[in-house]
Amino acid sequence: MFAIDHYYEAGTLEEAFALKEAHPGARWIAGGSDLLIQIREGKLAGAELIGIRDIPGLSGVTLDKQENIHIGPLSTFSQVAEDPVIRERIPMLGRAVDQAGGPQLRNVGTIGGNICNGITSADSASSLFALEAELVLSRIGASGFISSEEKEIGAFYLGPGKVDIAPDQMLTDIIIRRKKYEGFFGHYTKYSMRNAMDIATLGCAVYCRFSDDLAVIEDVRIAYGVANPTPCRCPGAEKAVAGMKAGEEAFRKLGELALEEISPRDSWRASRRFRLQIAEEIAYRGGMACLEEAKAAKGGVKPAQGAPGRPGEGAPARKTGESFGDGRHWLLRLTVNGKAVEVPVDNRESLADMLRNRLGLTSVKKGCDVGECGACTVLVDGKSIDSCIYLARWAEGRHVLTTEGLRGLDNELTPVQQAFIDEAAIQCGFCTPGLIMTATELVESGRTYSREELRKLISGHICRCTGYQNILNAVEKVVGQKQ
Ligand SMILES: Cc1cc2nc3c(=O)[nH]c(=O)nc-3n(C[C@H](O)[C@H](O)[C@H](O)COP(=O)(O)OP(=O)(O)OC[C@H]3O[C@@H](n4cnc5c(N)ncnc54)[C@H](O)[C@@H]3O)c2cc1C
Ligand code: FES
Ligand code: FES
Repeated sequence: MFAIDHYYEAGTLEEAFALKEAHPGARWIAGGSDLLIQIREGKLAGAELIGIRDIPGLSGVTLDKQENIHIGPLSTFSQVAEDPVIRERIPMLGRAVDQAGGPQLRNVGTIGGNICNGITSADSASSLFALEAELVLSRIGASGFISSEEKEIGAFYLGPGKVDIAPDQMLTDIIIRRKKYEGFFGHYTKYSMRNAMDIATLGCAVYCRFSDDLAVIEDVRIAYGVANPTPCRCPGAEKAVAGMKAGEEAFRKLGELALEEISPRDSWRASRRFRLQIAEEIAYRGGMACLEEAKAAKGGVKPAQGAPGRPGEGAPARKTGESFGDGRHWLLRLTVNGKAVEVPVDNRESLADMLRNRLGLTSVKKGCDVGECGACTVLVDGKSIDSCIYLARWAEGRHVLTTEGLRGLDNELTPVQQAFIDEAAIQCGFCTPGLIMTATELVESGRTYSREELRKLISGHICRCTGYQNILNAVEKVVGQKQ
């Protein structure tokens, strides 16, 4: 059980602001991948929360008539990474958020939460700085109408973990203006000690516009994470390099000059000296990668045709269950392993606890209880999530699948389960149900993957017995192979 004092859920923006007026000390919670961890660690024990994750209109990516990009703050990392507008117009941002945590985390963590937590290592931050994103902050006015103000992302970060948002305001839109992205090529580098499930030791986004013949750097923006207490740009370096001949000399200079504008700290993760060395090198490599991308794209970038409108506009409000008793409990209606169930839950309960303790589905293992190991992975509406950092309440009206639900009519094993046996991918078996659920998601996607892609896609799981090669062999055996 999470040490939550009270949880309220908002079905609409109006409801969210009304709840905020009634409970001014309550915090917004979106994906919960920061807040629930802090509650688990005791730093925010006793917090009051207002759930906003299902407010219609605040997720998804759209283009308006001027071709400005609007990113709903409740869009998960996966939604952003897979969105066609992002992939075609600002792929740097999609690739950046696709490096956060592991796949299960990316299915719940939101881009808005990643900005609003104010952390310098946030994987979306450097790219959004380089894109000069504008943030729309909304609140309910005295007249009862929702009023909004726009703020440049550069002015939003005040200090470590501190952002310029009033407690009664909510981030409701992230805007990337057409003039800020059109004609630019970008590259984000995350330097971390592990390829997955690790925050950045240093992050750097380089964003360049070249002359038509690619001979000259017409404009360049560079932004770092973890190089200062907040994400930052290096305007001096940018100014010095704009107008230079595109190539090694210019991008070496970009890296050298950027060092004058950053001041990374010593930490257990890396020394200041090491971070400075990395900062110089990834600025250079990022610039060169932009040039390579521009060369590859020469001949014209095909623009995406997105429907004009606001993020998620027109999405219906989700039907919800019922509160009962003291208002802390909820009669949850959902489908578990293909069967409709009604189950009373405490609003403070995780989905992992609900599945294990109330429904007896003990294939759902609890290892770390903080989203790090993947042992508790289940599928919610076909997507893998860490059920230990997902409130049971959020499963209202959804389809949940655990390993118990994989058995066929005659109790036969699925090809995924059989492959784990055939490839000796099981030792103690603690990580196995979670891995089988992720592999099932991959099989169900119908997509094909290379071995390297599969390695990344199962990186949200830790096997304490470390049989990773056999696990990968098993997954590779059943998931479609890229030729
Ligand atoms: C195992 C693990 C690995 C991780 N790895 C990474 C990583 O590699 N890179 C990375 O960048 N992050 C990482 N994170 C951190 C986290 O997943 C992200 O910061 C995520 O984007 C937070 O989004 P959320 O929706 O879960 O936020 P929540 O926890 O719901 O909220 C975070 C903060 O933002 C506020 N907030 C949320 N939405 C809004 C809104 N619309 N308006 C105003 N305030 C709002 C909340 O009140 C809270 O203060 C990791 C977390 C875990 C548990
Ligand atoms: S990720 Fe949920 S128990 Fe480890
Ligand atoms: S088989 Fe033992 S933890 Fe993976």
